[in-house]
Amino acid sequence: MDGPQEASITTYRGGPLLVRGNYVVRDGKGKKIPARRRTVALCCCGASSIKPWCDGSHKQLRPAE
Ligand code: FES
Repeated sequence: MDGPQEASITTYRGGPLLVRGNYVVRDGKGKKIPARRRTVALCCCGASSIKPWCDGSHKQLRPAE
């Protein structure tokens, strides 16, 4: 990353939350989960095999809108 940028979260119906900017993702115990990209997709459907990240499995649950 090339400097601080306010984080933003974009919702997608039936899909992930896209998180952009200056963010930190932590597990339920407060431990930082490394993210290697400026933009990440957080799974909201529960079907991902790489939680907390989205792996695209939500597409199998509902048709794209
Ligand atoms: S939101 Fe994409 S796999 Fe769950």
